[in-house]
Amino acid sequence: MDEASSIKFEAAPKNSALKATDFATQHTLQFIESVTEGRPNLRFLEVGGGKGHLAKALVDKGHQVLPIDVSEEAVACARSLGLSAKQTDIFGVNDFAFDGILFVQSLHHINPLGQSLAQAARLLGKGGFVLVDDFSFNKIDERTAVWFQGVQNLLAAGGIDTFHRIDIGKAFNHYSEHGIHTGEELVRALRSAFRNVDVSEGGAYLYRYFVTKMESRPGSGDFIKAIFEWEEFQIEKRFIQGIGLRVVGFK
Ligand SMILES: C[S@@+](CC[C@H](N)C(=O)[O-])C[C@H]1O[C@@H](n2cnc3c(N)ncnc32)[C@H](O)[C@@H]1O
Repeated sequence: MDEASSIKFEAAPKNSALKATDFATQHTLQFIESVTEGRPNLRFLEVGGGKGHLAKALVDKGHQVLPIDVSEEAVACARSLGLSAKQTDIFGVNDFAFDGILFVQSLHHINPLGQSLAQAARLLGKGGFVLVDDFSFNKIDERTAVWFQGVQNLLAAGGIDTFHRIDIGKAFNHYSEHGIHTGEELVRALRSAFRNVDVSEGGAYLYRYFVTKMESRPGSGDFIKAIFEWEEFQIEKRFIQGIGLRVVGFK
């Protein structure tokens, strides 16, 4: 009871203009800015940049960004935001001397991992950095899976389609079958391609699964923020595992 009375989990304030994607983008932007420390006009390569939301936010802040993605649809969407996106993997990039190379929710997909990171190191200028905002799927334990399933059940009851992956064994098989790298594999590969590699584990990440599902709905940013804060709170109280993985390394 004493412990429970010290728990603070407050109602999320509303700011309905915020979109779900904006919230996720802001979360990653804060991480990037903690590394760049306000340096202006940087040149970024974003690998697996998807629909271009992060690249657009960086351009709006005065940086130059080349977003690349293997998906034609993602590249078309990024171009519709005014970005010079290129449909390729990292081996099709001919520009050099980037200040930063970003992998946001993408490195776990990328093969061959070691060679792709070696290529990233080649494409960086002196003092350049690689930044990874990703997850360790193998950190999901039963309690975390049950919480995740609970959120999905609430959304499903509200008519929002979700994943339904309560069976952790099945989820792990799914990730393995799709060649998704574990967090340990990502960190090992990053350590062999870069120096001064700084790893931060245990942050909120599962909320990101709901971003695209919510995007078209009014108040989607408030919704995602509430899930994010709930996830962070559960992690802080050690009720669930934080599966976020953030890494920065230097050339
Ligand atoms: C989960 S999405 C993340 C997209 C975006 N970064 C975001 O945070 O919303 C992963 C993206 O990586 C892309 N991708 C997968 N393998 C890739 C590769 N080898 N090179 C470039 N992009 C890749 C996919 O097409 C997809 O758009």
